Amino acid sequence: MAEFTLPKNSRITGKGRSHKAPAGAARVRRFRIYRYDPESGENPRYDTFELDLDDCGPMVLDALIKIKSEQDPTLTFRRSCREGICGSCSMNMGGRNGLACTTAIEDLSGEIRITPLPHMDVIKDLVPDFTHFYAQYASIEPWLKTATPDPSGKERLQSPEDRAKLDGLYECILCACCSSSCPSYWWNSDKFLGPAILLQAYRWLVDSRDEMTGERLDQLEDPFRLYRCHTIMNCANVCPKGLNPAKAIAETKKLLVERAV
Ligand code: SF4
Ligand code: SF4
Ligand code: FES
Repeated sequence: MAEFTLPKNSRITGKGRSHKAPAGAARVRRFRIYRYDPESGENPRYDTFELDLDDCGPMVLDALIKIKSEQDPTLTFRRSCREGICGSCSMNMGGRNGLACTTAIEDLSGEIRITPLPHMDVIKDLVPDFTHFYAQYASIEPWLKTATPDPSGKERLQSPEDRAKLDGLYECILCACCSSSCPSYWWNSDKFLGPAILLQAYRWLVDSRDEMTGERLDQLEDPFRLYRCHTIMNCANVCPKGLNPAKAIAETKKLLVERAV
């Protein structure tokens, strides 16, 4: 039976801590950040941190790094490239999923609330658990699969036209901003693959060098894995790389119809 109450330790009841801006700060901005440490045994809480924007880089990631360096070294978040390539700093800022390193503080109004990606288990503070997401990615076998031998020791070639079919797909950085903003994925993530993984699945379906298109389609032809998408379009609206997973899903459905007739 479905359970509609949140687990006790997931409710935000903890008393938050406040960190003031330094005396004399001219351009103060307040960040309200979700904190959760499973080892403390405490419920989650929101801490507030004030920063002087005249003494801080322009992006939300700059603010998080400054907070960690100067106000609270226990604040935990993922980041690596700091230029929108690795996908590790995905989080929810001001109610919208995005990458902290490419989201400008100036583009967010008022007090900036920062939480982990919604509807994902939390490991600590702003770090979501991607175990299930990566297992779903592995399930689509995201590599070139062939039946014929390599052409006499050379690589498999692709025409410029066929290569162009991968544009709008290969750029995906697996940040999960789209999947964690998809209502269908919130309610059925155990069975529905979600927009990110389905975009990746389509990337291999349209790769002219791949020879397992039929098998890949068989894997997706399922009432849950693919067909839980109801074209709500949150995924395309939120993707920080400007990709359109909903379109990839629609194209996959089209391939399934075409092979059935
Ligand atoms: S499609 Fe966009 S939002 Fe979704 S995982 Fe890929 S890059 Fe992130
Ligand atoms: S279009 Fe489909 S995959 Fe994208 S957010 Fe909506 S239901 Fe989810
Ligand atoms: S730190 Fe790599 S995408 Fe933000």
